[in-house]
Amino acid sequence: MAHESGFRILIVCGKTHWQKEARGILHRRGGELLRFMTCLNGKKRVMGKALTSGVRSKLSIQKQRQRLPVYKLKKDLIQAVHDNQVIVVVGETGSGKTTQMLQYLAEAGYTTRGIVGCTQPRRVAAISVAKRVAQEVGCRLGEEVGYAIRFEDHTGPDTVIKYMTDGKLLREIMFDENLSQYSVIMLDEAHERTINTDVLFGLLKQLTKRRPDFRLIVTSATLNAEKFSKYFCNCQILTIPGREHEVKVIHVNPPERCDLDDALTKVLQIHLTEPKGDILLFLTGQEEIKYACRELNKRMKKLGEEGVAGLIILPVYGALPSEMQSRIFDPAPPGKRKVVVATNIAEASLTIDGIFYVIDPGFAKQHMYDPERGLDSLKVTRISQASAKQRTGRAGRTGPGICYRLYSETFYNEMSPTSIPEIQRINLASTALQMKAMGINDLLSFDFMDPPSPQALISSLEQLHSLGALDAEGLLTKLGSKMAEFPLDPPLSKMLLAGVYLSCSEEIITIISMIQTGNIFYRPSEEEEQEEADQKRAQFLHPEGDHLTLLAVYEAWKANNFSAPWCFENFVQPRSLRRVQDVQKQLITILDRYKLGIVSAGKNSTIVRRAIAAGFFFHAAKKDPQAGGYRTILQNQQVYIHPSSALYHIQPDWVVYQGLFLTNNEYCMHEITLIDPKWLAEFAPRSFKTADSFKMSKRKRQDKQKYI
Ligand code: CDP
Ligand code: MG
Repeated sequence: MAHESGFRILIVCGKTHWQKEARGILHRRGGELLRFMTCLNGKKRVMGKALTSGVRSKLSIQKQRQRLPVYKLKKDLIQAVHDNQVIVVVGETGSGKTTQMLQYLAEAGYTTRGIVGCTQPRRVAAISVAKRVAQEVGCRLGEEVGYAIRFEDHTGPDTVIKYMTDGKLLREIMFDENLSQYSVIMLDEAHERTINTDVLFGLLKQLTKRRPDFRLIVTSATLNAEKFSKYFCNCQILTIPGREHEVKVIHVNPPERCDLDDALTKVLQIHLTEPKGDILLFLTGQEEIKYACRELNKRMKKLGEEGVAGLIILPVYGALPSEMQSRIFDPAPPGKRKVVVATNIAEASLTIDGIFYVIDPGFAKQHMYDPERGLDSLKVTRISQASAKQRTGRAGRTGPGICYRLYSETFYNEMSPTSIPEIQRINLASTALQMKAMGINDLLSFDFMDPPSPQALISSLEQLHSLGALDAEGLLTKLGSKMAEFPLDPPLSKMLLAGVYLSCSEEIITIISMIQTGNIFYRPSEEEEQEEADQKRAQFLHPEGDHLTLLAVYEAWKANNFSAPWCFENFVQPRSLRRVQDVQKQLITILDRYKLGIVSAGKNSTIVRRAIAAGFFFHAAKKDPQAGGYRTILQNQQVYIHPSSALYHIQPDWVVYQGLFLTNNEYCMHEITLIDPKWLAEFAPRSFKTADSFKMSKRKRQDKQKYI
């Protein structure tokens, strides 16, 4: 039986009558499961060796739980939640806040009144923590303990402890402003200050006034507790006593910024010269991490011939499949050392025991929005001092450790003391649309802990207006309220609805599902294989752009009966494609609610591109032969086509792009589609009225009026 808890052991012991009984009981509810465990304890001698080891593993989990710093505060916590509607809990990473506190509340009876929910800023953390807690409780994931993230719901009718992303809870509150299913919400990792958590602060603060029985816990790993408490009417702060070990900080003083190569050299240097203990290296993103792991593998192979003990190389980033993510928690086998190469996901959201060495190059990738120029991009930026301290702390979980900062002390002193909350640096269109859909019309006077700049807010509202989601008064239009129903960014939901009206919804749904899933192509680590993978990928490249390339991959998979061997042959990730099907289904369910049918464009790729342009017209760019590259139409910004794009070698005159990467002060467009410039004036006459003297035909005007 594929089961993660100690119950698996019953089947191993091979006594038929026990098997039957076990299966029967396993299918019943959690209370019974726990009683069942107690009953097993009494019978362990009869059950034989296999079972007793199962019980022992369960017991050892209980022991592990009791050793966590939060355990000593269990009674105080339950009392504080009983006495106060809102509390702030502060504790170092790894003290047991996320995994333990909801279980304590369940034991104290809060689950009899509703679900106890916990939000996480990151999907990976929600999944990994839910798995762990299900294991601790002794149930299957999706039974008493479950998780929900965008497009993935692993909860069931019995779920009483629910982990979810903050974005997911924000969507739930859009449909039920009283969150009537929940008795307690824990806003976890609040110090990360994601925009969704920030909006939830305001909404849940209001909710506590409407529902006196509702309880809110805000947790934070660092120094923000006072600020949080002040915002929540000076609520009580509970501090979990830390037990971090000392970490020696060594600033590597480079003449300039260290590069990736220096970081990798440092990993090997530690591995070859320092006593045992695992290594954690912080890098900025998936591509960099994959490259680093490949490179480390290569260098280790060379060293391996000289008889150097093995290094287990483990990547961690948001889009990594969850089975692979859980490997980072497994201890390295004796005589081996593991190096975890992670994004700043490992800064606080994930606690990995056994790390003695941290390598911190001082950078992270962040979404940035420039409201003046309306430019949205993903940019590698310096981390803050608070982040640097947090990274350092990761080396002191198990014993005294060392943190190598690959930057000078001067560089450290120039870093900003704390990170800028997301709400003050990203495009607010998606959040603004959701808030409007909740009936919050005056966003400027919403009770934000740190309000966004009026300029950024206005720029996002303008974007929503140009998409047709808001009217001239800033009120939600019919189209806007439909757009808000989809768990997608506004340009994507507009593109989807345009697809419906332009009769290509089938293709647009697939394209959006492919975009949302990401990680479609597989690139092996061996160089020869990489060449083959690139050749295979090239056969899908569509001359009209990346969106149609994604569609071509899906269509080819479909034509091959959704076969997994086809995926392996073509270096496409079968797991990702299966997930694409899940996303498709969910989008279709929402369209069904509006009785909007699914229609295929057949071979007509032009209408598919028209629908894409209807969502992304404000990301239009025109070739600029003089300067090389492209210029965006609305922002007049010089941009380039990313080398990975299907249009890189084609360089057509007019394109729309989905996003920008900013590297070395150059903006690179990604996910690009060829367009006809006439469409711009058609879709957004307000923005492009001077574009040319194009006159709309009657049919096209009608076409437009249907969804603008
Ligand atoms: O939330 P906080 O950082 O205070 O701690 P936690 O995430 O509740 O972690 C408590 C313990 O559970 C740590 O020792 C982790 O190593 C362990 N844990 C785990 O083994 N697997 C997970 N997926 C999450 C936590
Ligand atoms: Mg935590």
